Amino acid sequence: MTFGACIAGLGMDVPVRIVTNKDLEAVVDTTDDWIVTRTGIHERRIVADGQSTGDLAVKACEDALRSAGITIADIEMIVLSTCTGDTNMLPATATFVQTALGASHIPAFDISAACSGFVYGLDIAHQFIATGRCRRILVVGAEAMSRVVDWTDRASCVLFGDGAGAAVLERCPPGQGILSTKIASNGAGACLLQIPAGGSREPLTAETVGTDRQFLHMDGKAVYSFAVEIMGEAAMAALDAAGISPSEIDLLVPHQANIRIIKSAADRMGIPLEKVFINVDRYGNTSAASIPIALTEAVRTGRLKEGDLVVTVGFGAGLTWGANVMRWGQVNP
Ligand code: UT7
Repeated sequence: MTFGACIAGLGMDVPVRIVTNKDLEAVVDTTDDWIVTRTGIHERRIVADGQSTGDLAVKACEDALRSAGITIADIEMIVLSTCTGDTNMLPATATFVQTALGASHIPAFDISAACSGFVYGLDIAHQFIATGRCRRILVVGAEAMSRVVDWTDRASCVLFGDGAGAAVLERCPPGQGILSTKIASNGAGACLLQIPAGGSREPLTAETVGTDRQFLHMDGKAVYSFAVEIMGEAAMAALDAAGISPSEIDLLVPHQANIRIIKSAADRMGIPLEKVFINVDRYGNTSAASIPIALTEAVRTGRLKEGDLVVTVGFGAGLTWGANVMRWGQVNP
């Protein structure tokens, strides 16, 4: 039996602490002008001491449940995407979130697809709904990137921010909601964006902790070149699969990494900037959280309305990428 799946509720949470580019001028050798010109970022949110990825995820999920008009008792699975989990490797952050939300005895697990994670999560949840196994699933993207960036590396620390976004994915008639999804990865680029130490290959030792290897390392230029190519390509592949042309799209919601990457992708697809949702200026790159946060703000600001055709597209470490095409249903703000 095949069912459709649509987003029935959306939610988000970002830390209250705002860190501006001016603030970063006191931390590393950078300028507001460089960051704005090269990335489009003006400020980002940073978690407070003691606040974790899971804490942000819980609030985003509560917001999404409210928006869908349901309670946690209606949820049959939690799929959480993060690369900055509450603990290192185990258990899954989704299990902390499950307990905090008051759920038990439903599957709750993490997926690791970095900034493409929300698109991956939607696709995984979609399969469980399509086969009839589940009726409603919480799909979450949550990150505390500020915990893993090297605050002495100006080329990367200025780019990222913290936050969480969540969606209630719900069964609907086929042909509504998600119309197509494409996800893919290419491990040949794994070394371009990674945290080298802290895993089973290179466990943390006193020596490692004295180096920068437990922090995020990135070849920014190589990731940039990959991103401008793949964003358009992935979105076009998902559109092709749905039999829809770019001119029919009402809103493009891209991963918010860099305004230049977003503009280049929109340009390659022939989509005018007025049809692109952008909030990278306020949050920076929140990795797996960026697309669900953007979707939530798009609905709450009236940019995304019932009946609209929306495309989400992301790319990230792995290298991973993915896109999906949705016919937007009724979502309460
Ligand atoms: O979700 C996926 C995550 N990753 C990304 O999306 C990253 C994709 N890459 C990018 O967005 C861009 O490559 C960056 C924003 C990271 C860098 O922009 P760029 O235009 O590629 O700059 P660059 O790396 O070529 O650096 C240009 C100059 C260098 O100085 P020299 O060698 O020309 O003297 C850098 O050292 O800018 C310098 N620089 C900075 N200067 C001031 C690098 N970071 C900074 C900084 N402030 N924060």
